[in-house]
Amino acid sequence: MNPTHIAIIMDGNGRWAESRGEPRAQGHVAGAEVVRQVVRRARERGVGHLTLFAFSTMNWGRPSDEIRALMDLFERDLIAQRPDLMAQGIRLSVIGERAYLPPSLRATLARVEEETAGLTQMHLTLAVSYDGRRDMVEAMKRVSQMVADGQLHPADVGEPLLMNALSTRDLPDVDLLIRTSGEQRLSGFLPLEACYAELVFTPRLWPEFTVEDLDEAIEEFRRRQRRFGLTRAAS
Ligand code: FPP
Repeated sequence: MNPTHIAIIMDGNGRWAESRGEPRAQGHVAGAEVVRQVVRRARERGVGHLTLFAFSTMNWGRPSDEIRALMDLFERDLIAQRPDLMAQGIRLSVIGERAYLPPSLRATLARVEEETAGLTQMHLTLAVSYDGRRDMVEAMKRVSQMVADGQLHPADVGEPLLMNALSTRDLPDVDLLIRTSGEQRLSGFLPLEACYAELVFTPRLWPEFTVEDLDEAIEEFRRRQRRFGLTRAAS
C-alpha cells in the first residue's frame, strides 16, 4: 500500500549552506526549491496528504536575521507558488501558532488557504511555529471548556474526541514520517498523529534531498507494509 499521509522534518539547510561557506539563509532558499519538487512528486505519486515541518516553536530562538530571512522566504515562496499549487489542485493549510507570525505572512497564508480550500488533488499542510505538545495543550483546553460548559461528560472523552481537538483534525494519521540530515528525533512533530507511523531517517541534508529519495522512502514504507502483512498472515 502507498502511504496516504507523509510528514517530513526538513532538516539540514543550515549545515548544507555552512559546508559551502554560504550564509545559512542560502540553505533555506535551496531548501525551498526542494519543497517545490517534493510537493509535485508527492502529488504525482497520489499521496493524499503531505505535512511539512517548516518552523518549530524552538526555531524562534535563532538569530533574528535568520528568522526574518525565513519568514520573508515563506511569504515570497507562497506568493510565487500560488498559481502552481492551484494548477496542481493542491489545497494548502497551516498549523501552528500563527499569531506569532508577521502580519503580512499571516495574511498571505490565510489568502492561499482560502483560495485553495476546495482543491482535492493533495492536501499540503505547513507546520509553522508548531510544537506538538503545545497543540495538545490547546486541545486539552478545548475539551475542558466543553466539559465546563456541560456539553460533554468526562466519561465521553475518548480517542476520536482528542484527535478532533488537535489542529490536525482534518488529517488522517501519519503513515510515513521522514527526517533528513541524519538526526533521528521527532522534535515535537505530530506526536499523536505519527504515533503509529513508519519512520525513515536519511543522512541527506534537506537541500540535497531528491524526488528519487522520496520515491525510495515510499518504497521502504511499502516493504515494511509487506513484512507486516506476512507476519499477520503467519500468526
Ligand atoms: C531546518 O534546517 C529547516 C528549517 C528550520 C526551515 C525549513 C524551511 C525550508 C525548507 C525552506 C522553505 C520552506 C517552505 C515551506 C517554502 P536547519 O536550518 O535546522 O539546518 P541545520 O540543522 O543544519 O542547522
